Amino acid sequence: MEAYKPGLEDVIAAETQISYLDVEHEEIIVRGYSLLELIRSACYADVVGLLIDERLPDAQRRHELEQEMIRASVPEPVYKILAMLSPAMHAMDRLRTALSALAGFDPEASTADPEREQAKAPRLIGQIAQIVANLAHVAAGRAPVTFRSDWSFAENFLRAIVTRAVTPQEVRAFEQALIAYSEHELPNSTFAARVVASTLSDLYGSLTAAVASLKGPLHGGANEAVIAMLLEAKTPDGLERLIRERLARKERIMGFGHRVYMRRMDPRAQLLKEVLADLVKAKGTGELDLVALCERGEQLMRTEKNLYPNLDYYAAPVYYALGIPTELYTPLFFAARSAGLLAHIIEQHRENRLYRPRARYLGPRGLHYEIRSHT
Ligand SMILES: CC(C)(COP(=O)(O)OP(=O)(O)OC[C@H]1O[C@@H](n2cnc3c(N)ncnc32)[C@H](O)[C@@H]1OP(=O)(O)O)[C@@H](O)C(=O)NCCC(=O)NCCS
Repeated sequence: MEAYKPGLEDVIAAETQISYLDVEHEEIIVRGYSLLELIRSACYADVVGLLIDERLPDAQRRHELEQEMIRASVPEPVYKILAMLSPAMHAMDRLRTALSALAGFDPEASTADPEREQAKAPRLIGQIAQIVANLAHVAAGRAPVTFRSDWSFAENFLRAIVTRAVTPQEVRAFEQALIAYSEHELPNSTFAARVVASTLSDLYGSLTAAVASLKGPLHGGANEAVIAMLLEAKTPDGLERLIRERLARKERIMGFGHRVYMRRMDPRAQLLKEVLADLVKAKGTGELDLVALCERGEQLMRTEKNLYPNLDYYAAPVYYALGIPTELYTPLFFAARSAGLLAHIIEQHRENRLYRPRARYLGPRGLHYEIRSHT
């Protein structure tokens, strides 16, 4: 059998027209455009159009997409099911359950027809955003917040979470984090979604698999672990102590390292670092000097381990500065990534070949079953 690469490291497992991580040039390409440029200048509906329609939308299409996402309603029973779950259940598990339940309200839930999937993707992105925005409200027994068509998608999304008026700068920072998380080639969750889609299973099953994958701390769960670490550390000196102790115990420091970037800074992290600095400058730092804290951690990890921040390291303090509850950090990653995931599922269904790899057997052979009398 062919060579085996643990974790499929560096193995090409799909061909795609969606995105490419050009590590050498510190660039992420999404359908020909630079993701960094999109983070700087585009709105989230542009990126949804680019991923789902396969081209940047014109002004009219952008408006249509935005309205479709905002007006997508979440069926009442989905919130009722969420309300019945234990609030102690992890928010990603509640999200996974809601996504499964959502299938029951889509008469075409089981289709694997890429044209139909493309048509319903914007609505699904809107429904996922509204479910995520309401996860904490419903768990606390509060009524779900609905989106309004006179606010942008990003403003609706942020306001629904924090339930207060927000500044244009806060909305923009939130939207930039959405775009930064929107698509990133073939991470574990996207691969999981494509593997499920390759059986000609549907959007709901494939997305549910992606939620399960993204929950893990080695993947999307890292953003929550980052803020927990920063809050525990409180000061730059405290963070240095904490990181040194963890490294001495051979623990991983969340928010650092990346299977593809490993010894370089994730270019999205660099951009979110700038977003954080601007946000903190405008809002004040409060008790926690997030910028100084993150900077110290970054410097220490560079000198001690030659490891660099990934997106989660800087998205987490941005979310914190916006006042977003920690339990929503990983669900937000999923909501933003739903556009990229849907694009990959649709692409898989267009050019499908069932994923069915082989395993190298390391167990014994030649054992025999002995018939024993039962006493
Ligand atoms: C993302 C991640 C899973 C990639 O891991 P990977 O490709 O499997 O890399 P490896 O486990 O082979 O790591 C290579 C070396 O770097 C070390 N390393 C990698 N990430 C590390 C981290 N965050 N903290 C401390 N050491 C780390 C490993 O211990 C290993 O060291 P060794 O060769 O001395 O054993 C890993 O960097 C990690 O666990 N990061 C923290 C979680 C995180 O932020 N995830 C979000 C990713 S976007």
